[in-house]
Amino acid sequence: MTSPDPARSADGARLDFAGEMSYGDYLQLDRVLEAQRPRSGDHNELLFIIQHQASELWMKLALHELAAARAHVRSGTLAPAFKMLARVGRIFAQLNQSWDVLATLTPAEYSAFRAALGSSSGFQSYQYRSIEFMLGAKKALMLEPHRHREDLLRPLERLLNEPSLYDESIRLLARRGFAIAPAALERDWSRPHEFDASVCEAWAAVYRDTAAHWDLYELAEKLVDIEDAFRQWRFRHATTVERIIGWKRGTGGTSGVGYLKSMLDHVLFPELWRARTAL
Ligand code: HEM
Repeated sequence: MTSPDPARSADGARLDFAGEMSYGDYLQLDRVLEAQRPRSGDHNELLFIIQHQASELWMKLALHELAAARAHVRSGTLAPAFKMLARVGRIFAQLNQSWDVLATLTPAEYSAFRAALGSSSGFQSYQYRSIEFMLGAKKALMLEPHRHREDLLRPLERLLNEPSLYDESIRLLARRGFAIAPAALERDWSRPHEFDASVCEAWAAVYRDTAAHWDLYELAEKLVDIEDAFRQWRFRHATTVERIIGWKRGTGGTSGVGYLKSMLDHVLFPELWRARTAL
């Protein structure tokens, strides 16, 4: 059926966007879809680029949600924080699933364009490092790859020096009356969080009487969900990398899979895991 109005489809959708905002305008699709610039001319490099770019977009959203969730935990308004943390968990589930697409890249296919990457590596991902800092995996040395980019360095430094989402959760435990050691409440935030027995005891008390501490119990479980998903991301990354490059060195200069596997042992929220043994 043809439409009587040439500016509309038969069921009423607009067809003429002269002077008005279209889908592509709103989403800035020209810019997004022009940002894939393979350097090698090899067929498979486009997959590699899109996999990274899509991951960075999801990381951008994860950071947006984590920053807002941290502000809510700081102000004690937990209900909206839960909604945001649940979304972060789903974002990581999405990222974890996406390794399956990259795993279709064989060692031979990757070798064909690897030289085109030069020294670029996910190790230099500013957003990944921001997520780590936001969650409490702090390491000042990780600022170094961004030293030449003042615009990235400053916000990353700020994140390094601020309390993480987990630090804010611990401070909330103290405000709710749990006896938390002062060293866990005011410290040099640029240092990674270290296991603290008083924090462990507080989480264990929350789990022992969930009815009395329902929202803290929910916060604890949301944090465990995030660490669980984050561990899976690290594991899928290390495994995908191993099947593509074996034990070759990384383009960023680390030992490669050896480095990635060593990161699997890093625990973000140690007391939440240890408390389970105490229950
Ligand atoms: C063929 C695919 C891939 C290979 C061979 C690979 C390899 C590596 C290697 C060897 C490292 C260690 C640093 C180095 O020496 O370069 C690394 C780090 C990293 N990669 Fe990948 N990677 C791949 C895909 C991805 C994708 C799709 C992402 C998503 C953004 C990603 C994000 C990262 C991040 C964030 C790090 C830093 C991890 C940390 O410091 O703990 N990688 N990668």
